[in-house]
Amino acid sequence: MGGDEKKEVGMGMESGSEEGNWGAGIEWWQRLGKRKKTTHPYSEWDLETLGSSTGLYLKDEVPLWVSDYEGYSVKSGDGRKKFNVKDCSTFIFIKGSSSEALALKVESLTREVSELRAMAASASRVRMEEKTIKHYSSKHKILLVGEGDFSFSLCLAKAFGSASNMVATSLDSKDTLTRNYSRALQNLLQLENLGCTILHEVNAHTMSQHPFLQHKLFDRIVFNFPHAGFVFREHHSFQIESHKRVVRGFLKSSREMVSEDGEIHVTHKTAYPFCEWRIEKIAEEVGLQPVKEVPFCICEYEGYCNKKGSGDRCDDSFPVGLCSTFKFMNKDPPTDPQVYDCI
Ligand SMILES: C[S@@+](CC[C@H](N)C(=O)[O-])C[C@H]1O[C@@H](n2cnc3c(N)ncnc32)[C@H](O)[C@@H]1O
Repeated sequence: MGGDEKKEVGMGMESGSEEGNWGAGIEWWQRLGKRKKTTHPYSEWDLETLGSSTGLYLKDEVPLWVSDYEGYSVKSGDGRKKFNVKDCSTFIFIKGSSSEALALKVESLTREVSELRAMAASASRVRMEEKTIKHYSSKHKILLVGEGDFSFSLCLAKAFGSASNMVATSLDSKDTLTRNYSRALQNLLQLENLGCTILHEVNAHTMSQHPFLQHKLFDRIVFNFPHAGFVFREHHSFQIESHKRVVRGFLKSSREMVSEDGEIHVTHKTAYPFCEWRIEKIAEEVGLQPVKEVPFCICEYEGYCNKKGSGDRCDDSFPVGLCSTFKFMNKDPPTDPQVYDCI
C-alpha cells in the first residue's frame, strides 16, 4: 500500500469538516476510477455505508499491522504526535458500478439467500418435529368429545406445543361450562392460543352431522369417562342403559369419522358396575373391531383433571380407580377418500 493509491483518513479527519473532507476524498478516488484503500480505526464512522452512499463498494476489510510497513510512523492531524494504532483495518473500496462490485454483490446476496433458506428449513424441521404423549401424537388429527373443563385437551396441546391438529368439543355451551367449571375459561383461552379448534354443544350421537365436523376424518377420536348424568344409582339397570346409549351413539358416529388406520378411544372404569356397560360388545355391534385395552393412569396426563360432569358437583373430580383406555378401529373403513377432507 503506498503512492497515490493510499489515502489515510484516520486522526487527520478530526480537524475541519469531516463530511466535506470525506466526500472530497471519495470524489477524488472515483475520478481515479481505480481500487482505493483507506485505513481507519473507528467503527462508529461506518465506512461501508459512507462509501456506498457515494457510489463505492466495500470489497474487503483487512486488519492493519503498522509493523508490516517499515518506517511508517502514524501521526496525529497536526503531525506532531504519534498515536497508538490498535484494532485497525484497511477498508478496500472499489467503484460500486464496476463489474467486480456487481459480481461481489450478487455473490453476497446469493450467500444471504441460501443462509435464509437453511434457517427456514431448520425452523420448519423444528415445527414439524413429532411430539407424543402416551397414545397421541402431534401428527395425529385428534377429535376430543365430551370434554369437561377441557383440561385433557389442554394437557395434549401442551405436550405437543400446539393444538392446531386438535378439535376439542363439549356437550355443554360455553356459558354453561364457564358457570360449572372453575378453570374452563382459562383452559379454553390457553387452548385457543395454541391454535385449537373448539366447538360447544356437540352431541356424540350426532357429531358426524355437525356442520364443521361433517366429512372430516380423524386419526384419534377420544371420549374420556362418558357418562349420561346422575339419575339413578350407578348399578341400576336404567342408569346403565342410559350410559350405554351415550357410548353407542359415540361409537356409531365415530365410525363415520375415523380415518382408515385411525383409532377410537374410550377411557372407562372397569370395576363393577361399570364393567356392566360391556363397551367392547357395543363396539362390535356398531361395526368396530377392538385394537387393545390399555390400563389408564391419570398421572401420565399432566394437568388433566377428570370431572364428574353433571349434577351439583360437576366440577368435582372422582377417583378413577381401575380403568382402561379401550381402543377400536373401523372394520370397514370408508373407501372413497375424496368424500372426506381433514382438519
Ligand atoms: C364424567 S364426565 C367426563 C368429562 C370429561 N370427559 C373428563 O374426563 O373430565 C362425562 C361427560 O360426558 C359428557 N356427555 C354426556 N352425554 C354426552 C353426549 N351425548 N355427547 C357428548 N358429551 C356427552 C358430559 O357433558 C360430561 O362432560
